[in-house]
Amino acid sequence: MKLFYAAASPFVRMVWVTALELGIADRIERIDSGTTPMEANAALAEANPVAKLPTLVTDDGDALYDSRVICEYLIVEAGNETMLPAKGREHWSALRLLALVNGILDAAVLRRYEAAMRPEEKQWEVWDEGQRLKVVRALDELEREADQLGDGATLGAIAVACALGYLDFRFGHENWREGRPKLAAWHDDWAKRPSMTATVPAG
Ligand code: BEZ
Repeated sequence: MKLFYAAASPFVRMVWVTALELGIADRIERIDSGTTPMEANAALAEANPVAKLPTLVTDDGDALYDSRVICEYLIVEAGNETMLPAKGREHWSALRLLALVNGILDAAVLRRYEAAMRPEEKQWEVWDEGQRLKVVRALDELEREADQLGDGATLGAIAVACALGYLDFRFGHENWREGRPKLAAWHDDWAKRPSMTATVPAG
């Protein structure tokens, strides 16, 4: 398998932590693929028309995206039956948690692009604040649910840990831990796993 990859992407981190936790990372070749909304990486765009990271090319030559689809594929490839509940209320609850985390990351990455790539005179504070508040509300929800996150390697826990890691990486000055003691304690513990310490974003 081949994974179009960028170390700073929290969506990529989610996939890579999943692969490490499943013990199948050594079956995946990583292709470092810097891409931005303004300038798509050509090889990536050939595999995935919307040129988004991560994109996985399977051993059958099929391209898979987005991160949730790739994680589900890896779970099936590894024959794991605990990382994502297959049915029932627990299944829907897990998918809802993944959607919540995706919402946090979509908003946070858009904010990052706005601040880092858009010319300063074109940046729009009201828009940025709207995105920030999405993250604030979702984090408050995670604080309410922190007792249910558990200490095992579920896909939901991986996603939450990678999202919080991204907030530390790009928005550390906004201190998401303030007022969210349960979530902070959960993350500080979960982030000690080897899969997390091996994938701390940089750059
Ligand atoms: C970042 O540098 O923050 C970033 C890189 C790739 C995807 C998303 C975010």
